[in-house]
Amino acid sequence: MDQMITHIKSWIYTAAEQIKESFDEDLQVETKSSRKDLVTSLDKQTQEYLTRQILNYDPNAKIMGEENGRDHLTDLSGRVFIIDPIDGTMNFVLEHENFCIMMAVYEDGVPQLGFVYDVMKDEFLWGGKKVGVFRNEQQIKAPKDLGMREGLVGMNTSLYKKNAYNCQKIGDHAMGVRMTGCAGKELIGIILGHRNGYISNLAPWDYAPGCVLLDALGMKFSALDGEPLKLDGRELFIAGTPTAYDEMRAIIANTAI
Ligand code: IPD
Ligand code: CA
Ligand code: CA
Repeated sequence: MDQMITHIKSWIYTAAEQIKESFDEDLQVETKSSRKDLVTSLDKQTQEYLTRQILNYDPNAKIMGEENGRDHLTDLSGRVFIIDPIDGTMNFVLEHENFCIMMAVYEDGVPQLGFVYDVMKDEFLWGGKKVGVFRNEQQIKAPKDLGMREGLVGMNTSLYKKNAYNCQKIGDHAMGVRMTGCAGKELIGIILGHRNGYISNLAPWDYAPGCVLLDALGMKFSALDGEPLKLDGRELFIAGTPTAYDEMRAIIANTAI
């Protein structure tokens, strides 16, 4: 496992260098499902680069990734890599920061390793249940189990705006609401104790890498209804410290806390 970790980190660091070099070039930006759903040549190139490295290393690996027609896997047996080449593409295009490269490794459906790299901050969260969780080269402990009232929650803009599932009430109970446009940064936030919770509508590559790390640290996450995440298309997603997660779920179920 150590050897695989070393390889994956070096692929992600190399991909990050390529992305940073692209800031000097003209980026090809296209829209996907709407004018707010962007994909760039760099998203596609980065996923292609990571895919090539994975298949050189393990020709039998299966790959699920956001781009290049790899967004669905029916069979999760064997070793599966889940890739989000650039999480926070809108931020990447408009801000040149606040985006992550992310990868998860599963074996026969069981999460093993997660990698979430905030490229411009040079903050790399990686690890898993067997190896522990690291921030760059330093192993980290679980954050404090703070309640919802004692910190910030990350929220999907549309859910909050529509007050879907009592999201505004959750925001009122928390000390504040944050919307970064980058699931990876929100999950790093929970891992580091900067956020107590996060609610969004996410695809497997948005949540799988961070959730491997959250799981290793005893944090809670699921579909919004409390069911296990399916790794199959977009789902309403909730994560948090154990206390904040339960409190948010109680508000979603419209029960008083
Ligand atoms: C998006 C971001 C955003 C989340 C969206 C994702 P992308 O990922 O993580 O925070 O709200 O649902 O699609 O498309 O930039 O990789
Ligand atoms: Ca994403
Ligand atoms: Ca992406």
